[in-house]
Amino acid sequence: MNASAGLVSDAKIKTAILGYGRSGSTLHADPLEGLPDQFAVTAICDIDPQAQAKARARFPCPVYSDYHEMLAAQDLDLVVIVTRSDQHCAMTCDCLRGGAHVLVTKPWAVAAGEAERMIATAAATGRQLLPWLPARWGCDLIRLKELVASGIIGEIFMVRRREFNFGLRSDWQTRKQFGGGYLLNWGPHIVDQAMQLVGGRVISAYGQLRQIINPGDVEDVFHAVLITQTGVILSCEYAIAVNKLPNWVIQGNRGTIFVKETAIEIHRTDLPETIDPQDYRTKVQITESREELTGGHRITMDNRYGDPFVVYPAIAQALRGAAPYPVTTDSALALSRVLDAIRLSNATNQVVPLS
Ligand SMILES: NC(=O)c1ccc[n+]([C@@H]2O[C@H](COP(=O)([O-])OP(=O)(O)OC[C@H]3O[C@@H](n4cnc5c(N)ncnc54)[C@H](O)[C@@H]3O)[C@@H](O)[C@H]2O)c1
Repeated sequence: MNASAGLVSDAKIKTAILGYGRSGSTLHADPLEGLPDQFAVTAICDIDPQAQAKARARFPCPVYSDYHEMLAAQDLDLVVIVTRSDQHCAMTCDCLRGGAHVLVTKPWAVAAGEAERMIATAAATGRQLLPWLPARWGCDLIRLKELVASGIIGEIFMVRRREFNFGLRSDWQTRKQFGGGYLLNWGPHIVDQAMQLVGGRVISAYGQLRQIINPGDVEDVFHAVLITQTGVILSCEYAIAVNKLPNWVIQGNRGTIFVKETAIEIHRTDLPETIDPQDYRTKVQITESREELTGGHRITMDNRYGDPFVVYPAIAQALRGAAPYPVTTDSALALSRVLDAIRLSNATNQVVPLS
């Protein structure tokens, strides 16, 4: 590591995985192992003996049960934090103070106050804090941004983003004390994507949370309505339901875009310049087109939430100072504030303004 600038100059970025569970051992271990020119996994930490055994079988590096011990023993460039959501803030601050840059999975914080603490710690230590929001690399979001920017459906006034699932869950994600609940679990994917598509600040939030089928004490359904500074309405919903409705509906003044899994339907029209006074409304020609998600993005359902093999090279570039990390801490903090506002709105049954 180039200590003065905090940048990594070594050939391989010496990386630790903190939390070798479902996500740590796949979404993160796979690209870290699969991009050997850029990364070397030099330490892993998990408190669970089974996870430790799996890590030892795969990586020839020390495996720890205590991350403080790991930080003391290892010269690490990067720690990737993939533990339970309630653990992220304290672990991130400890790792930054221990001298490493930190990539922290979503949700990086259970509330905006934690996000602010991590940002302050990164500033004080001169280390990089990289929020993992892979849905920003989602193949649907990337294509929709291109379509919206092309003006094909005119000015956008409403974006609906939905995901449905009828599965039961019974792990820590069903418990408030562990940072569970689907607003924190899915908000960083679908609320963030809707915000990213239109850009601009969210000025108010209304939200409802419900616990429908999961055990535990947190929501498994949320529906939020957000208003942006330019007046665009964002409707974001994660629900217990069969998966038949479109995942996205983008409404503009010249057309509508539907996304159903990996298929995009574009319906567009040109309104007449004048309206026939005999007619009670104008009749317009609707042009329809349909495409499968393409354009260089690997087409799989999973890549709707970002391809880790694309995200990790961006992380390497940021740590080497070659290019800024595309997910700024300010934008991740803005998302945390919106998620807090949705939760507060549910508790008070009021629209919550955001400054
Ligand atoms: N698409 C995505 O980006 C995505 C997908 C799934 C999960 N996640 C996020 O990843 C995080 C982990 O989720 P998961 O489903 O992998 O959970 P998990 O329970 O499978 O994994 C968490 C791991 O952390 C370990 N752990 C707990 N306390 C520890 C400690 N003190 N020190 C070291 N290790 C410790 C556990 O033993 C476990 O192996 C969550 O925040 C979740 O939101 C992100």
